[in-house]
Formats: sequence, structure tokens, C-alpha cells
Amino acid sequence: MKAIILKAVGGPENLQLAEIAVPSIKDDEVLIKVKAISVNPVDAFARRNQDSLNYVLQLKGDEKHIILGWDIAGIVTEAGPAVTKFKIGDEVFGMVKFVGKANGYAEYVAAPENDLALKPGNISFEEAAGVGIAALTAWQSIVTGGKIKKGDKVITGASGGVGHYAVQFAKHFGAYVIAVTSGENRDFVLGLGADEFIDYHTQAFEELVTDADIVHDAVWSDDVHHIRRSLRAIKPGGTLLSLIVDFDHEISEQLKSKNVTGYRVLVHKSEEDLAAIAELLAKGIVKTHVSQTFPLEEMAKAHSLIETKNAVGKIIVTV
Ligand SMILES: NC(=O)c1ccc[n+]([C@@H]2O[C@H](COP(=O)([O-])OP(=O)(O)OC[C@H]3O[C@@H](n4cnc5c(N)ncnc54)[C@H](OP(=O)(O)O)[C@@H]3O)[C@@H](O)[C@H]2O)c1
Repeated sequence: MKAIILKAVGGPENLQLAEIAVPSIKDDEVLIKVKAISVNPVDAFARRNQDSLNYVLQLKGDEKHIILGWDIAGIVTEAGPAVTKFKIGDEVFGMVKFVGKANGYAEYVAAPENDLALKPGNISFEEAAGVGIAALTAWQSIVTGGKIKKGDKVITGASGGVGHYAVQFAKHFGAYVIAVTSGENRDFVLGLGADEFIDYHTQAFEELVTDADIVHDAVWSDDVHHIRRSLRAIKPGGTLLSLIVDFDHEISEQLKSKNVTGYRVLVHKSEEDLAAIAELLAKGIVKTHVSQTFPLEEMAKAHSLIETKNAVGKIIVTV
């Protein structure tokens, strides 16, 4: 089968098309004929940094091929004897073996049944592949960490993979949503349901809003300064959700003195969360916005695009 292997840690050009064997499945796994794959910032971090790669793939050093990718959608072609949820022919999607070695950039993927959900019939494979890491992160942030409820005022980065799901989840739970993006994405985020829009290039959100119940710091930045700005926008008793910055001693003290709950989001597998998201997709309440698709052979282009930090919605690779 075709797969994209990482020849060595480095630039997108190190992602190369190869012919490798179709994987075999364990008793609790299904074999999926992959139709679409989504690319996330973590794919690019792992590609260019050995420590990140070791961690996210849980490498042991004896791997024949290094293959990235966790978010897939496709059709079940084989089911292990312990599989109860799916049968051959089912259309499925999910975040597979994260963190771990899913070998997602390939024509066939062996996936534990508990990492998957049935693809709703009203959405495409591309839209379903987009869900994985980004939508689970947004859910575990806004819903699990933020405990969002009707009437909450929420500020969130809004136009990227995580952000565009976060806006839709927050609106679904009845929040008032302030979307922070570049000016060119104004119509996109208002179209997702955001109530207000702030252009971060020309306006400082923490000067415009200081009474948010929840700030979802969903930007591509490990700058602690950004977290401090987010903290200023939250009212006492509110919640700060951080996707990338750990809370050091100083931030922890500031959180305490302002009576703000800090929640460091680390996306994790959850059958329940995936099922809840699948239900919203099936009802048309939440949609994946696919901004660009590439064929498998052009995976390097998808990586270059995600690294611009300006991707809108999801970037999808079709197989
Ligand atoms: N902790 C976890 O478990 C976890 C899981 C998933 C992702 N993440 C992290 O979360 C971040 C977002 O992930 P993603 O998948 O959404 O990435 P993405 O799709 O590449 O996000 C790109 C978007 O980020 C926006 N952006 C960049 N700088 C911004 C700023 N200063 N303010 C507001 N928006 C800004 C861009 O908006 P404009 O084009 O409008 O400028 C663009 O739409 C990444 O750093 C990722 O590593 C963490």
C-alpha cells in the first residue's frame, strides 16, 4: 500500500511516498481503507523535532518506518474477533492511537474500535477526518475544562482547526462568543455563529473585554505573555483554558490571586466525547470547515500550509 514515511526529522520535503505492507490488526482492531486524513500542528512539531517525535509516536527505536498521522476517516475492510461496534463496510472516523504510533498517513490503518465512531451519513470523509484531534481538543477544552453553560461570555481563537470547532461548541451550549482572528477571517467566524469579532492585528482583546467567564487560549504560541493577556480578560471566578502554555509558578500565583481556574488542555482519547461530537455533526449543529485538500502524494504541501499558522478550519489529505 501507499504510505508517507518520514525519512528523517526536518522539513516537509522529508515526507516521502513509499510502498509498504498493509498492517495486520489486533483482536480489538479494525482495518480501515483510509479515504481522508487531517493534518494538525502536532504533525509538523513531530516532523521537525526529535523529542516531539519520540513523545507523540512513543518511539522505541526499533521502528522500520516512521509514519505520522492520527486523524482519519475511511471504510472498515476487516474486523478483529473482539470487535463489537463495527462491521465490514462501516464508514468510520476518529483520532487513532494518540499519543502513539497510528501510522495514519497510509492507505490502510489498523485502529482500535474504541478510537472510532460511525461517520454520520450527512458528512463527507474529508469533514469526518477533520474532527479528530482538533474537535476533541475543542470539546475537552470548552466543555470538559470550561464546563461551559448558557450565558457564559467566551473569548476564543476562532479560525483555525481547534478554534472553529470551539466557536460552534460554545454557541451550541448557549454561550456569548467573542472570536479573535485576523480581519480576513471576520466573515468566516461570524458565519460559525460568533457574536462578536476582534481583529488581533489591530485590537488588544484584553483591553476590550475584561469580564469573560472563559478565555480559550487557542493560538499557535508558547509565549507566556499571551497567557498573561488572556488572564487579564477574565473576570474573577472565571476559567483560563490553555492549549499550549504550561502554568508556571508566576502564572499559577496570578490565577490564584484573581480566583481564576486554570486548565491546561491535553487532548486524549475519549469514546464519549467522540460520540457527543458525532451526534452534533449528524444533526448538522456542528460542521467541519475544510479549507484545502491535497492528494496523499502532496502531504509535504499540507505540512507547509499548516506551518504558516494561518490555516482556516481544517487541511485535509485525500487517499
Ligand atoms: N494541548 C493540546 O492538546 C492541543 C491539541 C490541539 C492543538 N493544540 C495547539 O493549539 C494551537 C491551535 O491548533 P489548531 O489545530 O487550531 O491550529 P491551526 O488550525 O493551524 O490554527 C491556525 C489559526 O490560528 C490562528 N491564530 C494564529 N495566531 C493567532 C492569534 N494571535 N490570535 C488568534 N488566532 C491566531 C490563525 O488565525 P488567522 O489566520 O485569523 O490569523 C489561524 O486561523 C496550536 O498551537 C496547537 O499546537 C494543542
